[in-house]
Amino acid sequence: MSQPLLISHRGARGLAPENTLRALEAGILAGAPWLEFDVQRHPSGELFLLHDLTLDRSTNGQGLPAELSWEALRALDAGLGERLPTLDEALDLIDQRAGVNIELKTWDGTAAAVAAKLRERVAAGWPLEKLLVSSFHLPELFEFHQLAPEIPVGALLCGVPLDWAACASELQAASLNLSSEFVDARLVADAKSRGLAVYVYTVNDPEEYLRLAALGVDGVFTDYPDRLRPLAV
Ligand code: G3P
Ligand code: MG
Repeated sequence: MSQPLLISHRGARGLAPENTLRALEAGILAGAPWLEFDVQRHPSGELFLLHDLTLDRSTNGQGLPAELSWEALRALDAGLGERLPTLDEALDLIDQRAGVNIELKTWDGTAAAVAAKLRERVAAGWPLEKLLVSSFHLPELFEFHQLAPEIPVGALLCGVPLDWAACASELQAASLNLSSEFVDARLVADAKSRGLAVYVYTVNDPEEYLRLAALGVDGVFTDYPDRLRPLAV
């Protein structure tokens, strides 16, 4: 049995400022076969990488991204002089060297914009098996799936639904992406019986990684791919 896949979280937020090009490169250099990052849509239509819905924690800006012009947003420092990358810049940098899990953080047009962008990349040769689009906002993810049914999606949960993994089946998802706080053996079993892969966030402790491996999960999101890599063989 193979060990759970390593998905480097927010680029590799333990190794570099989260969701920056530097963090994506750090994840690849640490040997992670997959990278996760968060994407938002600015009112200008641009897609960019950022986790929080405000700028305060991870940049030298303040308030909502929508309150700034696109140019002002791009002038912010996201740590160590890094800029908030566009989705295109992130994909250009990765250049198929790792699988890409794009998490949709905003709604109202984000799914459509990301679907259009990814369909261009797929048409240009990016393999479908190296893409996964996820969201906690399941209606937005459903819209993405309708617009680009060929691109795999992962349903994100932070809890245990009354009907277990049924929402992921309804979405025709490839995976169920679960919080480590709520990994429940019955939920994992239900996901498996539906043919879903199970990925768990966020796992930085080697012992927790081994516990989840024993539970049969298929992958983990980690801030430190360098720490877990020796176990992931
Ligand atoms: O996609 C897994 C994980 O990134 C979800 O949580 O808050 O880190 O985006 P968050
Ligand atoms: Mg995320």
